[in-house]
Amino acid sequence: MHDDLEQRKSQHLDLVQRPEVEPEGSDPLLSCVRFVHRAAPELSLDQIELSAELCGRRLRAPLMIVGMTGGTERAGRINRDLATLAEEAGVAFGVGSMRILLEQPDLLATFAVKPARPPLLASNLGAQQLVQRGTGAALRVMEMLEADAIAIHFNAAQELVQAGGDRDFRGCLDAIGELVARVGADRVIVKETGCGIGPAVLRELAVRGVRTADVSGAGGTSWPRVEQLRARDPQARGLGELLSDWGIPTAACIAAARAASPEMQIVGSGGLRSGLDAAKALALGADVAGFALPLVRAHQQSGIDGARAELAGILGALRAAFLLCGARDTAALRASRRVILDPLRTWIESLAG
Ligand SMILES: Cc1cc2nc3c(=O)[nH]c(=O)nc-3n(C[C@H](O)[C@H](O)[C@H](O)COP(=O)(O)O)c2cc1C
Repeated sequence: MHDDLEQRKSQHLDLVQRPEVEPEGSDPLLSCVRFVHRAAPELSLDQIELSAELCGRRLRAPLMIVGMTGGTERAGRINRDLATLAEEAGVAFGVGSMRILLEQPDLLATFAVKPARPPLLASNLGAQQLVQRGTGAALRVMEMLEADAIAIHFNAAQELVQAGGDRDFRGCLDAIGELVARVGADRVIVKETGCGIGPAVLRELAVRGVRTADVSGAGGTSWPRVEQLRARDPQARGLGELLSDWGIPTAACIAAARAASPEMQIVGSGGLRSGLDAAKALALGADVAGFALPLVRAHQQSGIDGARAELAGILGALRAAFLLCGARDTAALRASRRVILDPLRTWIESLAG
């Protein structure tokens, strides 16, 4: 079983290099957000203040490299390199699912990022594992990594396509509530993996004390599609194809989450591919913009230097967007005028209330 899990993680890293993992029909709808250009910004680029806070930690920029990998030597290199870049840029960093460590603690080195020390380091576990293994398992992986927080992920669509994946998704919300009560709200991030957390689930999480959510909406990496590409069984392949664009578009998730829960700290991820996308996520209400695929691809293509250049490009475009909107900081960007086009406008209206 462990070998299976290792092999699966390795296949995932290969498969996400393929263009089909971002299905054509799937769209985060960030292109429906149009900033209103300010011809006279009356700002200097170096006046722009990007700092942000997440889980009680100060970030130099409102970005997070969200959880992806671990469990193999190749994954270990990715984690160490991306965490190094997160430290350099002063942004948050998360490792991928640490489930394998519950059986094989000797694989810790493939998650550990020392000597890198990003301002916020998040461990990661599936919501179903939290139900099955209990709060103790979450505490164990947090301690092993010496993490500041733990990201608990939902991935029901992926599991349903995956051979031998989970089929029972009961009890996750209460298990998360118990975890928050045990470790504190500042140490728990609840995330999706590309299908989105809608406002109803967000409210149910808020009732259980959750204060930070990564909505990770549709429009970027599609995990039903990744599992479709792995599946041998024709029925699983068919389901993966059908669900490949399943989910709530990222832009709609962020706007709806902000409207549903003004106090929730929101990470907006899923299909963000530039600093301009990040600016749009922040304008819609995210506190931090999250990236997965662009950074792991850059790393796999050109190593740490490629990923460093990708992150620098994202930060440069983010600053440019702030300046061109005449916004000195995220609060000003959020307050600035923008145009919301359809179908995002309809999504936001339909999710409201
Ligand atoms: C290679 C890869 C592996 C991933 N593994 C995990 C994981 O173990 N746990 C998790 O919470 N999310 C995982 N994700 C999901 C991301 O954190 C993110 O929610 C999703 O990919 C959407 O962002 P993107 O469109 O920028 O890739 C993974 C993503 C990628 C690309």
